Amino acid sequence: MSSSQVILCRCEDVTLDEFRRAFQEGFTELESLKRYTGVGTGFCQGKGCLSESAFELADLRGILPEEVRLTNIRPPAEPMTFAELARLDIPEPLAATKTSESVSTPIEAASPTEHEKDES
Ligand code: FES
Repeated sequence: MSSSQVILCRCEDVTLDEFRRAFQEGFTELESLKRYTGVGTGFCQGKGCLSESAFELADLRGILPEEVRLTNIRPPAEPMTFAELARLDIPEPLAATKTSESVSTPIEAASPTEHEKDES
């Protein structure tokens, strides 16, 4: 089986060949390879491919796997459902300080006031 047929990331259909080509194009960090190829951005968020990608990158760079800088981790760290999100205790947004009646449109704000009209 050639590297063009080996799937590195099943979620995003990234082949080993695509990963290696991206490396040769100058994407030499796991984070940039992730952003460029999509490896690790699928449903499993890299659980099925990032360690293999790190090993492959270490091999391509001629370094030890533990020397490969891992990707940035952003919340949520674990997959969650919308129901779980809805149950989170998030404070209400701050109340607006102006009511809709007291807010002027940009055209109204730029127009002369009654006082300014009287002066002219
Ligand atoms: S296998 Fe790569 S993100 Fe799931």
